[in-house]
Amino acid sequence: MATVEINDRGAKELKRGALHVYAQNIVEAGATAGDWVEIRHGGETLGYGFYNPRSAITVRLFTWNDESPEEVLAKRLEDTATWKGRIYGDTYRWIFAEGDLVPGLVIDRYRDVAVVKNQTLGLEKYLEFIAEEMQEYGVDHIYFKGKGAGRKREGLPQVERWLIGGKKAPTIIKEGNAKFYVDVVGGQKTGFYLDQRENRIELERLVESGMSVLDVFASTGGFGVHAAVRGAKTTFVELGKTASKMIRKNLRLNKKGGKIITGDAIDVMDKMVKRGEQYDVVILDPPALAKGKADINRAKKMYFRINELGAKLVNTGGILVSCSCSHPITPRDFLGIVRGAAEKAERRVQMLGALRGQAPDHTVYLPQPETQYLKCGFFRVE
Ligand SMILES: C[S@@+](CC[C@H](N)C(=O)[O-])C[C@H]1O[C@@H](n2cnc3c(N)ncnc32)[C@H](O)[C@@H]1O
Repeated sequence: MATVEINDRGAKELKRGALHVYAQNIVEAGATAGDWVEIRHGGETLGYGFYNPRSAITVRLFTWNDESPEEVLAKRLEDTATWKGRIYGDTYRWIFAEGDLVPGLVIDRYRDVAVVKNQTLGLEKYLEFIAEEMQEYGVDHIYFKGKGAGRKREGLPQVERWLIGGKKAPTIIKEGNAKFYVDVVGGQKTGFYLDQRENRIELERLVESGMSVLDVFASTGGFGVHAAVRGAKTTFVELGKTASKMIRKNLRLNKKGGKIITGDAIDVMDKMVKRGEQYDVVILDPPALAKGKADINRAKKMYFRINELGAKLVNTGGILVSCSCSHPITPRDFLGIVRGAAEKAERRVQMLGALRGQAPDHTVYLPQPETQYLKCGFFRVE
């Protein structure tokens, strides 16, 4: 097997559980791009993983045991399907990359359909193997979404294709008391934001018939559809045209109506504030505004503005649900932003319970802190 020798610093990182070996910590590599390698330090083996000299993360560790990539992948798929299936049945984030000890690989399962994304060069030649293994669990249609900047950095092509099957119609999933269409081919990301599932179900507990609910950055309507199912009057704001159309379909699927505004959230909220509109519940779930450390300051300003407008739009005694899926924004940063933004809006906020996060199938692996990314707070607004 090819070997990669790493320095003291790289070894220290791996010994504390990290899965990444950075280029500057490689001493010598007797390997070619995409190889499965043994990671060594001064006569000691620290693990096994894939090598890619083109990437700043030059080795991604997949296992601490001497086993083949096939053995590791089959075991990870089985382990995660077992414990996630226990919670969620047949719809879950099956593999959450580093969180589930499979760096670079994301798999979402929606009943008999699944979508796969990969950002690790060495894994690409195992896609067919992964798909075959997945079929063992009752998945008949597997779509590969190989797009994005991460793949470019890794030297991987931009491709999309069915690995197995080819289901045309969107799949219908059930979540709490709501139903949703999931379009893995035409939809954003993997087709549905499963990470917010528990937070959307929590919303159902707080909404009652007749309440007015504004779902901003709505995507396919996740939060607002749950509110509509509870009998609320819902308004959705979403920039994407395809996603906006899907909101209407999801409302119909649940035999509900609602107002859908396709446009920029800040513009729309600004106009609503100027018109003096207010709602019993306002949900803010923007896309990741900070992807890395360089974006933090700009993103904080945007989150501040979004939350200031959101806070102004909540009735006295109403609820603000505010979220951030940017991993570089810490929970402490986030709560500071919400507090400051509410203050600027001349409102006071009380948090209902602890700050919430991503659904448990988006496993947080503590030595890779970026796996903990979602913050979601329910605030009562005075
Ligand atoms: C994290 S997703 C929301 C997920 C949704 N809450 C759910 O539960 O399914 C963020 C959404 O914001 C939308 N978006 C991005 N920029 C926007 C903007 N400037 N105005 C309105 N929507 C925007 C994206 O198209 C995406 O659908």
